[in-house]
Amino acid sequence: MKQYLTIDEWSIIEESFDSQTHEISESVFSIGNGYMGGRANFEEQYSGRSLQGSYMAGVYYPDKTRVGWWKNGYPEYFAKVLNSTNWIGINIEIDGVQLDLATSTVSEFRRQLNMKEGTLSRCFTATLEDGKIVRVESIRFVSLVRREIGAIRYSVIPVNFSGNITITPYLDGDIKNKDANYDEKFWNEVEKKGEADGGFLTLKTKKLDFHVTSAMAFDILVNGEKLNTEVEVIELEKYVANKINLSVQEGDQIVIYKYASNVTSRNHGLGQLVEAAKTTLQQAKEAGFSTLLKEQNEAWRDKWKESDIIIEGDASAQQAIRFNIFQLNQTYNGEDDRLNIGPKGFTGEKYGGSTYWDTEAYCVPFYLSTADSSIARNLLIYRYKHLEKAKENARKLGFTKGALYPMVTMNGEECHNEWEITFEEIHRNGAIAHAIFNYVNYTGDKAYLGQYGLEVLVEISRFWEERVHYVPHKDKYVMLGVTGPNEYENNVNNNWYTNRMASWTMEYTLEALAYLQENESTRYAELLEKLELQETETSKWNDIIAKMYYPADEEQGIFLQQDGFLDKEIIQVKDLNPENLPLNQKWSWDRILRSCFIKQADVLQGLYFLGDRYDLETKKRNFDFYEPITVHESSLSPCIHAILACELGYKEKAYEMYLRTSRLDLDNYNNDTEDGCHSTSMAGTWMSIVHGFGGLRVHDGRLTLKPSNPGHWKSYSFKIMFRGTRLKVSVTDLNVTVSNETEVPVYITIYDKEFTVNGLSSVTAPGTSVTA
Ligand code: BGC
Repeated sequence: MKQYLTIDEWSIIEESFDSQTHEISESVFSIGNGYMGGRANFEEQYSGRSLQGSYMAGVYYPDKTRVGWWKNGYPEYFAKVLNSTNWIGINIEIDGVQLDLATSTVSEFRRQLNMKEGTLSRCFTATLEDGKIVRVESIRFVSLVRREIGAIRYSVIPVNFSGNITITPYLDGDIKNKDANYDEKFWNEVEKKGEADGGFLTLKTKKLDFHVTSAMAFDILVNGEKLNTEVEVIELEKYVANKINLSVQEGDQIVIYKYASNVTSRNHGLGQLVEAAKTTLQQAKEAGFSTLLKEQNEAWRDKWKESDIIIEGDASAQQAIRFNIFQLNQTYNGEDDRLNIGPKGFTGEKYGGSTYWDTEAYCVPFYLSTADSSIARNLLIYRYKHLEKAKENARKLGFTKGALYPMVTMNGEECHNEWEITFEEIHRNGAIAHAIFNYVNYTGDKAYLGQYGLEVLVEISRFWEERVHYVPHKDKYVMLGVTGPNEYENNVNNNWYTNRMASWTMEYTLEALAYLQENESTRYAELLEKLELQETETSKWNDIIAKMYYPADEEQGIFLQQDGFLDKEIIQVKDLNPENLPLNQKWSWDRILRSCFIKQADVLQGLYFLGDRYDLETKKRNFDFYEPITVHESSLSPCIHAILACELGYKEKAYEMYLRTSRLDLDNYNNDTEDGCHSTSMAGTWMSIVHGFGGLRVHDGRLTLKPSNPGHWKSYSFKIMFRGTRLKVSVTDLNVTVSNETEVPVYITIYDKEFTVNGLSSVTAPGTSVTA
């Protein structure tokens, strides 16, 4: 864990340059707009350690699988969102010497991600090896309003010399993914043209034929005067640049405005790409930098109106929640139903930008409460559209029926290629079923079941049915050889969480069937026929539900993560020398697998998902046993623990876990932020406030709140959308106020007391200091 960023409620700020933390900052200060985004690389050349990264949503490459020992059932490829044309580049040469912070002495450096306004800015003074000093200020953004446009204002002042400055704005498509399996480049050049005031470059992927055209234009001003000087056009393989030589005087201010448009064949016909890039670019340039910036600031102001969480009395917690909300809004906006949410968003390459169970388990709840319900619905339909592929996947592994959704996917096909995860981490099927429940429960949209949901539920239940087997001597169904959410254990028997989610899926599927039979009999009959669902199947599911085996330790009153868990030596994390952490970077895999240490919520994930089926005492006993042996080395872990700790009244633990989830990247808790930010777990951070401190749940169509305060916050507030209403929940120790910002009345429960909140009015209930 390294804290080097300044605490500020609206910005992330780095006050000095350190090449050791540069790659972490490149991740943290990333910018995006749901359509494209990139890491906070420098515009000018930087020869130190850096991951240059610019990504277009949905533009991916099937990179041939690389494994040491091939196993039947492995996928042929891993889909990777591609690192694409670097459009931010502006090289600066001073009397023939490159401006490069890796070889200069840097002072007065400041990098700022302004989350209120949606901009990334930077300034510094650099002393070059020959003693020449320049002062640089830059600001850039990718537009929320014009999704294909990025803009930069870059200014240079020669501080102690007069001489020549060469400025070279460029587009560089000669890019490689850092995570390429065979060190291959994935792009071919199609077309390019350099012109006196910019140029364009079209690339296409070597497979799948995604085309991306990037076009740039620029203006240069010296001391406020627009310059019309000679421009040298440079065209190289996958590269277009404009070189401008300026003779400058000490103290002159040289400002470059660079505009770029990036358009893809996902949204434009192949023949129209260049035209589309040029047109959007021209419009942006004509509008001018200040107009684009103003649009950007206003668009972010509107976003914050809908989604801000305000914490009074704790600037560090406030900064952190805004950072998480900001990054989520930069990553995915739900406008394009072909897209999903990669665990690193646009901030890095790890995990390939593909879809994981993270979407259903963590992101769906966030979108359910903060956006129109069509967005969560789209996320579910994305999986519905992959149902046939999930069925094929199950067949490929030898199942005669049912569907196994992939662990990692871009288009429905499995991409993951480690046997203990690809074949064994099958609990992902449970999260996909649970997201359907969550959506229907939250929105009340039961029609979804007949339209899409039931088919997915039935195929997942069929998979579970075949994956378990009956053991006569136990008179129980067991499930062998799985990996639970805790990836620090593989090939275990009877992972409690997986067994529980399997039987829960069957229960919910039967419930959905009963609902349709009673309320939508025609559709019910159609679906029975389409699915060829047999009575023998549903009665088998009932049998499995009744006789599923759940490992438990009666003495301690806890569920066992898997058979034999208590044979391990139980040591608490607090008793480990901190030098051992993070375990995944310090210990051998063998040592991790044999230890009791848990990567992320496993039994506790089940107690969170199925929270209304377990009493507080059960949750407490399990939390008290499992949390102290959990190392939280998955970003998805602390948020679940924060929520349960809130429910159990463990304020300090809840706060510790909140900081850990919300500041995970800002403080680099797991020593891996340089790979990219943990974008999907950011939705978990949001959950830790709204489901955790706010205690939000929906039971039988009714919204319930049980707010608590971690102890020292003066107040906090959040907004949620629920069944056509938008509510603002404000919490102090003295009271809880729910204001209805819409005209639709809503019925809610606050601390077990029922209220009606009429349109455009509010209700106030006594807070914890009064009721306690
Ligand atoms: C976690 C998985 C998660 C993946 C992507 C892994 O470290 O263990 O649960 O799906 O990261 O976020």
